[in-house]
Amino acid sequence: MAELDRKPDRAPVPAGWDYAPAPEARDVVSIQERYPLFIGGEWVEPRSGEWFATVDPASEEPLAEVAFAGPDDVDVAVQAARTALADGWSNRSPAERAKYLFRIARILQERSREFAVLESLDGGKPIKESRDVDLPLAAAHFFYYAGWADKLEYAFPNRSPRPVGVAGQIIPWNFPLLMLAWKVAPALAAGNTVILKPAETTPLSALLFCDVLRQAEVPPGVVNIVTGDGRTGAELVTHPGVDKIAFTGSTEVGKAIQRQLAGTGKRLTLELGGKAANIVFDDAALDQAVEGIVNGIYFNQGHVCCAGSRLFVQESVYDDVLRKLKRRMGTLRVGDPLDKNTDVGAINSRQQLDKITELVRAGEEEGADIYQPPCRLPEKGYWFVPTVFTNVAQSYRIAQEEIFGPVLSVLTFRTPDEAIEKANNTPYGLSAGVWTEKGSRILWMAQRLRAGVIWANTYNRFDPASPFGGYKESGFGREGGRHGLEPYLDFE
Ligand code: NAI
Ligand code: MG
Repeated sequence: MAELDRKPDRAPVPAGWDYAPAPEARDVVSIQERYPLFIGGEWVEPRSGEWFATVDPASEEPLAEVAFAGPDDVDVAVQAARTALADGWSNRSPAERAKYLFRIARILQERSREFAVLESLDGGKPIKESRDVDLPLAAAHFFYYAGWADKLEYAFPNRSPRPVGVAGQIIPWNFPLLMLAWKVAPALAAGNTVILKPAETTPLSALLFCDVLRQAEVPPGVVNIVTGDGRTGAELVTHPGVDKIAFTGSTEVGKAIQRQLAGTGKRLTLELGGKAANIVFDDAALDQAVEGIVNGIYFNQGHVCCAGSRLFVQESVYDDVLRKLKRRMGTLRVGDPLDKNTDVGAINSRQQLDKITELVRAGEEEGADIYQPPCRLPEKGYWFVPTVFTNVAQSYRIAQEEIFGPVLSVLTFRTPDEAIEKANNTPYGLSAGVWTEKGSRILWMAQRLRAGVIWANTYNRFDPASPFGGYKESGFGREGGRHGLEPYLDFE
């Protein structure tokens, strides 16, 4: 509570404007001690006999033990998915499939508080983000694709769309439930069955989702969840019973998967890294742009593939933008993910914290100027202060490599041509942002930026109806929208 300055002759005046703690209740979700694998609609002990722990990155405390799926476990899961496919999931009337997707969407809405708390506990993201972004969007994806399930003939007229078969889906740790929704919803709408592997640091929301599948009475084997690490993912990729792989994660692993699948005829979509340009022109509404810059890089601790991690500011407004940005950074609250006032939560893992620390050190060594607002961090857990680098050269590692943390590199430009030249100077091409009051300039920029998604006077906006995906080393294939069905369909 703010301290009150109680002078006898005056009304009480707050002496400070500190926020009182506003913790979300942790007991809205019950976490099991152990989670086996979810195969064929049942909880199955791992044949590997191995288990691993998932921790709360804000406290470093273990939350639960999770089964490690070895080759035999992946094999059983693939058989279950094949059986469910043959048993008629894909031949069910499309309206029936839609019914299950609608049910899942509604149950996610009903249980959203429980899921939001679990997502923040297991992954470190602020509760206001899991509550206001991850959960509503995950439910929206199921609603959206439920709507397509019985309209595939209209979506792809005269092409006789039919399901690809069994989909192996591998997801990362930055938006665990949302990435599950992006993958599972279109796959089921198109009549496929699924084996999904969540990331090793954030498996719990996918495991709670198994409960939703049961509640929705989704037929056994239509969705199977196997937990494990990269080895489990690799088993899924190479298993001959899998017809299609959908992967979201690092460019390095994406490239390895593409090499492994070359010549197999297996379908593949890759959603990989990014190093997005967020471009501010001198005619932009600067206060609004600063909000967009902050949202672009500090949202979800910067663990965002489409994060606006390279800020390009037109030289004439550089001083103004930096002054406003630094002032705004001073108001960001870093700390307990379950506190409703927290803006920046915990870094997802020790490994990710080490990677961010290493790249920030490289930025300082290469000669960039670092700024971090004064900030008190909790003693335990993995944390990183929101950081901005100025005086950055295009060649520096912090301007080239994906940091995947709350670290912004600022560069400048004079003309629109120069902005395009610099923005496109990256091996990635997932997203970009443009801030200007001129509609014509937005269109001019959008035509020239080599990025899958371009936001104008906003950033990090998502909608299930809008396709998302990359150019170049950011991957291929689209998720979301009607386009997002195509990877899960074969055509005549
Ligand atoms: P990662 O690519 O290793 O992990 C992503 C998923 O792939 C996880 O489920 C993991 O278990 C699985 N996986 C790992 N190796 C595999 C293999 N050989 N075959 C099949 N599946 C495999 O990413 P990681 O190590 O967690 O993060 C490293 C860096 O990758 C981050 O610092 C960040 O820069 C980038 N990254 C980008 C993401 C994005 O959305 N674009 C998401 C996660 C990480
Ligand atoms: Mg965890």
